[in-house]
Amino acid sequence: ALPYDLAGVRVLISAGGTREPLDPVRYLGNHSSGKQGFALARAAAQRGASVTVVAGSTADPGDPAGVQIVRISTAQELSEEMTKRAADADVVIMAAAVADFRPIAVADAKIKKGDQGPAPIELTTNPDILRGLVDARDDGRIPSETVIVGFAAETGDETGGVLDHGRAKLARKGCDLLVVNAVGDGKAFGTEDNTGWLLSAKGDETALPFGSKTLMSSRILDEVRQLVPDGRGA
Ligand code: PMT
Repeated sequence: ALPYDLAGVRVLISAGGTREPLDPVRYLGNHSSGKQGFALARAAAQRGASVTVVAGSTADPGDPAGVQIVRISTAQELSEEMTKRAADADVVIMAAAVADFRPIAVADAKIKKGDQGPAPIELTTNPDILRGLVDARDDGRIPSETVIVGFAAETGDETGGVLDHGRAKLARKGCDLLVVNAVGDGKAFGTEDNTGWLLSAKGDETALPFGSKTLMSSRILDEVRQLVPDGRGA
């Protein structure tokens, strides 16, 4: 039987990639398909959670059923939606691939080739949404018992420091759980399967076996469930 252990728990998930416009026809983006975020949404809904997904660009064949989906495009839009909705969530999971930078200026008209060759694109920093959510919890803008989960997309392998980068990122972001997955070389972005480690703020480190993004999601939600205070949900 399916565990119905998230009944009534409100779960807010970001999924997919952000797109930062350059002009009316071009953007800076990434290869996130939304499959990992949507798999989490489906798995949480199957366990009885009330799920909202804030989704950027996705290539998943179907929107998860029984889940509220809010569409956004840019990192700033994602930041607004997540910050607003986090106040009414018991669990917040940042599975979206967020652009750290955006072009300073968005041209009103399509940028022309011109005579001078390519012009440099000037960038400015986007808000760190995950860090912002942790700060909001620290200063009481969202409830202190809200569980906050981040992802870390790192290139390389275990010996190449993926896990070390993940540990440093957990400390920097201050979230309760961090899912570290290796990316690049055809890994994680756009794939059906995933693997990695689950790091907790308490110092626990669990290897997540290679398998479907659905399986990975169940493992993540098992850990999340432990952190949701008793009395939340059913
Ligand atoms: O969508 P799929 O094709 O299924 O691929 C899944 C995935 C590889 C995109 C997913 O598993 C994943 O790793 N998502 C996080 C990607 C990412 O942006 O990682 P990061 O290491 O750059 O960021 C760390 C964390 O901070 C993430 O939780 C991210 O959502 C968040 N972040 C990053 C930048 C930013 N400006 N604000 C943020 O909140």
